[in-house]
Amino acid sequence: MHELKVHDGASTYPVLVGPGARHRLLEVLPVGARRAAIVTQDEIPWEVDAGIEQRRFVVPDGEDAKCLEQVEELTRAFSRWGLTRRDVVVGFGGGVVTDLAGFAAAVYHRGTQVVQVSTTLLGQVDAAIGGKTGVNLPEGKNLVGAFWSPAAVLCDTEVLASLPPREYRCGLGEMAKYAFLGVDGLRDLPLDEAVAACAACKAEVVSEDLREDGRRALLNYGHTLAHALETAGRYDLRHGEAVAIGLGFAARLARRLGRIDDERVAEHDRIVAAYDLPDRLPPGSDAALLLQLMGRDKKATTGGLTFVLDGPRGLEVVDGVDREAVAETLEEIRS
Ligand SMILES: NC(=O)c1ccc[n+]([C@@H]2O[C@H](COP(=O)([O-])OP(=O)(O)OC[C@H]3O[C@@H](n4cnc5c(N)ncnc54)[C@H](O)[C@@H]3O)[C@@H](O)[C@H]2O)c1
Repeated sequence: MHELKVHDGASTYPVLVGPGARHRLLEVLPVGARRAAIVTQDEIPWEVDAGIEQRRFVVPDGEDAKCLEQVEELTRAFSRWGLTRRDVVVGFGGGVVTDLAGFAAAVYHRGTQVVQVSTTLLGQVDAAIGGKTGVNLPEGKNLVGAFWSPAAVLCDTEVLASLPPREYRCGLGEMAKYAFLGVDGLRDLPLDEAVAACAACKAEVVSEDLREDGRRALLNYGHTLAHALETAGRYDLRHGEAVAIGLGFAARLARRLGRIDDERVAEHDRIVAAYDLPDRLPPGSDAALLLQLMGRDKKATTGGLTFVLDGPRGLEVVDGVDREAVAETLEEIRS
């Protein structure tokens, strides 16, 4: 079992990665918790035993479940059960469940502890770690949320065996970005080791910059276009697939702005292709809509377009990117 730590201001929480990590739940529960509200989905064919009184709270499958209505339903159900602020919420699922359960915990009784037990590859390398919680609005993804650090994160690689192949590939899309954040040789590692290497990178970055004032924004590499594609919504793209398209796009935009050369773009393409992920805009993509949605990205604070881009000093947040350059780069990756 890999035992990592995230430093969160005054405290530190553990991230355990390996087969059977979910069986360590009792050990990492907050001291004094008498009840565990297990937030999960019917589609997840695994159980988790908190070792204290527990009840399952099932949320619907899919990105639509990450909404304010579900937060209301969950917190009302917690209240009817009598969950107190001393108790614990357990998010047992992929990124949809952990984002939603984390946000419900953040606002229930003005803050109830949460333990994230991640069951998807994407969640284990990214979503479950770092305390970003939230839900979507019709206007965009993850627009309402809170930084709410978990008491612990368990990444049980055993449960990945039942992931549908497409979800597994999506996790690889999120994993691909770590190659540009300095995690080398991922493809040669056994799965447990690869997950642990990515989780360690995420743990290190968020420990340094919990509230995304600096380096943490780099974890969003490829995500500006990815979120716009997901919000535009009509393309049947999963998050990891959208990130893969976003990585190739970001590389080409960086080249257009004179920040990287052809060889570096080819390196991006090789990494994405090795995971068998998409690299072109879905047919019929509406560039004007994508531009508008990218302008609403949370990284954009200056009213212009903001991207994480590769360059001579590695990845950086670049503000005020020329709209024309972005529009032309979108055409470059049109299928
Ligand atoms: N908070 C963060 O820092 C952060 C980071 C990255 C992504 N995210 C969010 O994560 C979400 C995507 O997460 P995801 O890719 O895990 O998708 P997901 O949570 O929708 O899970 C994918 C599908 O797999 C099923 N599933 C989950 N575990 C399973 C298992 N072990 N066996 C069989 N089926 C299983 C789910 O029920 C679902 O149908 C997005 O909403 C994204 O915004 C958050």
